[in-house]
Amino acid sequence: MKVVVTGGLGFIGSHTVVELYRQGFEVVIIDNLSNSSIDVLTGIEKIIGTKPVFEQIDLRDKTVVTAFFEKHNDITGVIHFAASKAVGESVENPLLYYENNIASLVYLLQELQKKKESYFIFSSSCTVYGQAENMPITECASVQPAMSPYGNTKRIGEEIITDVAKVSGINAILLRYFNPIGAHETAEIGELPVGVPQNLVPFITQTAIGIRKELSVYGDDYPTADGTCIRDYIHVVDLAKAHVVALRRLIDHKNESKVEVFNVGTGKGSSVLEVIRTFEKVSGKPLPYKIVGRREGDIIEAYANTDRANQILGWKAELTLEEALDAAWKWEQKVRSI
Ligand code: WQD
Repeated sequence: MKVVVTGGLGFIGSHTVVELYRQGFEVVIIDNLSNSSIDVLTGIEKIIGTKPVFEQIDLRDKTVVTAFFEKHNDITGVIHFAASKAVGESVENPLLYYENNIASLVYLLQELQKKKESYFIFSSSCTVYGQAENMPITECASVQPAMSPYGNTKRIGEEIITDVAKVSGINAILLRYFNPIGAHETAEIGELPVGVPQNLVPFITQTAIGIRKELSVYGDDYPTADGTCIRDYIHVVDLAKAHVVALRRLIDHKNESKVEVFNVGTGKGSSVLEVIRTFEKVSGKPLPYKIVGRREGDIIEAYANTDRANQILGWKAELTLEEALDAAWKWEQKVRSI
């Protein structure tokens, strides 16, 4: 079956393309290369042994999106990653986020709505929960007012998909990611943050390799065991596999409603200091860091209740924090050796 992966040259998208190929899907990658590199295509090719079909498409251009689906009129499966995702940038430039993340989603859905039946996997985020009251977080936890325009585009995106699915042949699964980290075991693909990394793990690996002087730990005065924030860090390969399982669920008509929601995490929370200690153990390198003030907008704690994903979706994270950090470190060393 032919499937389009939007943002397929991005971090999670590229790993999902690999897993789709492994499961026998025919994949068309579209990406506008605004936050990814064409070199990722080579990395994917080295892993799967064939050059994936790639088209440079900007989903903000409605005529281009329409032309794409007219050309590939046999496509009924879409995994939609393409979106801007930097929380801080979204605060400074909200319209960039509303145009890119919402308009492109609308144009995609307008094409799928023309089809009798289609299958849509949406890249959502645990950010929609804000600071949830209870841990671990279930899918029934209330969706909070967003802490950033980025988070708002995920919340609005879920609502748009839900409304459209009611009146069309679109079947959708919303995957609410926790914190994706790591890289492919071959070190052929991984995370490629543009500029100074905002996220913890790429900042750690860039510090360990010497690009950054030291890691700033944003606060150790939170109400947690060691005072630093807790997150559910999930290996990007486990996360990629969840997308293929979700797509297969829709294709096989196993979904119990037109729109289903699943938390995709490990179900385990790790503090910033625990991640640092684990990285030092895995890499054998002491990590220079300093404790600084809290980062605006950070929540204290978030980790997933994965019962629905495990028991209904039939997916479970298998890789550990150590394996993810080891893969991230190997990837960083590979990228810097080129
Ligand atoms: C994790 C923890 C920081 C950097 C965001 C988005 C989420 C998803 C993942 C896109 C926090 C601490 C971080 C640093 C630090 N994005 N930290 N020093 O904020 O949980 O989630 O990225 O899909 O939607 O909200 O991830 O990696 O930025 O931070 O101390 O240099 O590490 O305070 O506690 P976050 P993160």
